[in-house]
Amino acid sequence: MMECISSTVILSPQKQATGPNNLHAVIDTIKEMLHSESTLGHLVRGEEPKESFLRIDATVKTTLSAYANGHHEDWNKFAFFHEHHYVRNFVDGNEEFELMVICWRPGQVSRIHNHDKSHCWVACLHGEVQEVIYSSVAQPGPCNTNAQDLGLSSPKKDVKLPGTLDSYVPCPELEKVSVKNIQPGQVTYMNDKLGLLHSVGCLEGQPAPGAVTLHLYSPPIKRATLYDQEANAVITRVPGFFSVRGVRT
Ligand SMILES: [Fe+2]
Repeated sequence: MMECISSTVILSPQKQATGPNNLHAVIDTIKEMLHSESTLGHLVRGEEPKESFLRIDATVKTTLSAYANGHHEDWNKFAFFHEHHYVRNFVDGNEEFELMVICWRPGQVSRIHNHDKSHCWVACLHGEVQEVIYSSVAQPGPCNTNAQDLGLSSPKKDVKLPGTLDSYVPCPELEKVSVKNIQPGQVTYMNDKLGLLHSVGCLEGQPAPGAVTLHLYSPPIKRATLYDQEANAVITRVPGFFSVRGVRT
């Protein structure tokens, strides 16, 4: 078995920090916004009314963009990398949201996945990531979150991915819709209601240490569905964390 290696890479800010003065301010803004929507009777579960989502989306994009463009360095304490795969590092959260820092070495890319009907915002903090968006030819329209909905009933037994709940064959045919490079300071959004899937990663050849992204999910993702074309399988799993609040798990 190969030894797992992790490290925190300290990256110095190039300019004086601006915008929300630290990640705590970002978290406070998110909590206040969700509390405000809750007092209006809107639960943020992907089922809130359009006007509620538009407020949430605007606040999140403004807040994450200001932070990601603010040349901050406090995210460094959450920035654990792994030599062999990208890692999710939990920053903060509750039953309404989770905020995490994901670290990507050059060449590390996620499987194609959906988002358990959660809202998903991604801000690039360092380096460059590429998002590839797909639609499912087999399942046009909003993507379902479990394999049974896709008409897959043959279990695939040899999936050894940690947290795997179910796995099925075959992986449906997926069509590449678009490719987008996300630079530091840029924010992107994804939700299953868009009827799309995506993969995110740092391309081979990008400068070391790779890329760091800040992800907000609301509500937290309890189970993710992965579309593994190489293994020809659809895998449902509970995503885990490599570190929690700056401490390696
Ligand atoms: Fe995603």
